[in-house]
Amino acid sequence: MDTRHQIIVALDCDDRATAEGIVDRLGGECRFYKVGLELLTVAGPDLVKGLVAQGKEVFLDLKLFEIPHSVAGAVRAAGALGVSMVTVHGMGGPRIMTAAVDAARAFPGLRVLALTVVTSMTDEDLTDIGIADSAEEQVLRLARLAGKAGCHGLIASPREVAALRSALGADPLIVTPGVTLPGGSPAEHVRPGTPRAAIAAGASHVVVGRAVTRAPDPAAAFRLVRTSLVP
Ligand code: C5P
Repeated sequence: MDTRHQIIVALDCDDRATAEGIVDRLGGECRFYKVGLELLTVAGPDLVKGLVAQGKEVFLDLKLFEIPHSVAGAVRAAGALGVSMVTVHGMGGPRIMTAAVDAARAFPGLRVLALTVVTSMTDEDLTDIGIADSAEEQVLRLARLAGKAGCHGLIASPREVAALRSALGADPLIVTPGVTLPGGSPAEHVRPGTPRAAIAAGASHVVVGRAVTRAPDPAAAFRLVRTSLVP
């Protein structure tokens, strides 16, 4: 696979001009962008349509957690924008994941990814909301439910990728945010948490945000990620 399709740059910006400036600076090298709730809310769907019209793939990170009817509507709206990926919360349960997958069927290029336990949540946070299992157990439970619901993949931190890949097999996409840029030496390219380590552990895609978008030279930072993925 062309490694450019495995690297998703998160456009976490609070205005459209900054986001479009980053896309311009990255040029043809970067093929895949993540648009989250902040940028979608300030810039609106036209920004997403503009990216798709330029031939970019878009991961619309909506993190849906709603009644099934509303989740289905949001997934259809995302599909109509031409995006390639949309996220739904696994914690919302099988019915909302199934509703998302059913709604996505009308858009052959659209993949529904389930978010298991957000990386900021600790075992204590889970206890507070009445979940006695550890975060790791909860991640695996929700990942299995996502698979049964027909989700095309999961969002997982670099820590979880290997366990998920071995539990779920080769099929699901595993998209991994929270990676850190490698340093210059080959050894640094494979330390835990780098894009290369995440891909080696079984991730299909990595999400890189500020390490590229806030670099003095975003294109050079993107190239560093890309070259680091070539074994
Ligand atoms: O940290 P960075 O700027 O690379 O974050 C890019 C994206 O990855 C963010 O939009 C966020 O949704 C996600 N992320 C995450 N867990 C982390 C760090 C980032 O889900 N620990």
